[in-house]
Amino acid sequence: MKIAVPRESDADETRVAATPDTVKKLIGLGATVSVEKGAGVASRILDADFKDAGATISASAAATLKDADVVLKVRRPNADELKAMKSGALVIATMDPYGHEDEVKAMAEAGVAAFAMEFMPRITRAQVMDVLSSQANLAGYQAVIEGAYEYDRAMPMMMTAAGTVPAARVFVMGAGVAGLQAIATARRLGAVVSATDVRPAAKEQVESLGAKFIAVEDEEFKQAETAGGYAKQMSEEYQKKQAELVASHIAKQDIVITTALIPGRPAPKLVSKDMLASMKPGSVIVDLAVERGGNVEGAKPGKVATVSNVKIVGHLNMAGRIGASASALYAKNLFAFLETMIDKETKSLKPDWEDQLVTATVLTRDGKVVHPAFAPAEA
Ligand code: NAI
Repeated sequence: MKIAVPRESDADETRVAATPDTVKKLIGLGATVSVEKGAGVASRILDADFKDAGATISASAAATLKDADVVLKVRRPNADELKAMKSGALVIATMDPYGHEDEVKAMAEAGVAAFAMEFMPRITRAQVMDVLSSQANLAGYQAVIEGAYEYDRAMPMMMTAAGTVPAARVFVMGAGVAGLQAIATARRLGAVVSATDVRPAAKEQVESLGAKFIAVEDEEFKQAETAGGYAKQMSEEYQKKQAELVASHIAKQDIVITTALIPGRPAPKLVSKDMLASMKPGSVIVDLAVERGGNVEGAKPGKVATVSNVKIVGHLNMAGRIGASASALYAKNLFAFLETMIDKETKSLKPDWEDQLVTATVLTRDGKVVHPAFAPAEA
């Protein structure tokens, strides 16, 4: 059972899909592990660390991937990587399949079984495999750090002989995994924090972290959570009421962190150009939803834009900006999933294709796109 860990081919990707810790555990389960030279460097893991853990270091992606039964990656494999993989290999990564149907088809044509970690069901058994949570949590933390960096004043209140620096006011929009960590981080830095969400369950969570909850709490709000715990698309009427409430609140804020997402849809637009114009000069907005279209009008993916004297931070791959921590958690998520597919007695791969974790995540298998969201309709 050969497991391959190639170096991520995307130049902006700092993360790696295995750590010395998970390599050791995989070897304990009977695997041999091949890691591409330099795969961990951007996450502060040296080749020597992987080697000490028992991995072989391979000079190229092709050599790493050759004959591998399992490929662990951060991002979906590209065409060259697919060419180097053997048919039937299991490829486990964050596949980002929506809008990339051709790439999903290419994985089917390459004959690999591709698993999209972001489709892992949010059930208790799979919590340890939840890459969305592990990465969103770090992204929420890092968003506050980036916001504080761009903000040219102190976060906590400081009373000094030379005068008082007031505490920064931080407003977090969207109180899911990333938002709650942003609230906690901003509080630790001494800011006065408020937050909003459309799901009623968020209210208690926000308040338990010592932040003020701000939302239009009408009948629609009370029904706004799906059975899976996600937000629903809100009506136009609700969005209008929400925008009015936000408009008056946002004008008094120093740093705004937006994290609002609705599964399978573009991110809701929550901050308009008018709202930006009402903010104090030098205020900062960090738009964590920028990869899904952004919550803020004028946010530019990968850039820090300035609109009406407000800086809008649009960094992509926020979790990758805290790569060493992100890799440690991501690698653990992948290991936990792969472990369920390894037979401990025979020390060999034995995926249970009926298992809920597998059926929810597998995109392609045996030359076909098999996931219901992407499979061609039956003729
Ligand atoms: P997400 O990343 O899909 O969205 C982020 C947040 O944006 C959500 O809280 C959502 O309600 C909010 N949002 C959407 N539209 C909005 C709008 N118009 N205005 C303001 N906020 C808006 O959500 P995430 O972080 O994945 O969490 C969703 C839920 O899943 C949470 O309740 C979380 O606690 C729960 N969860 C459960 C897990 C489990 O294993 N049971 C694991 C992780 C999260």
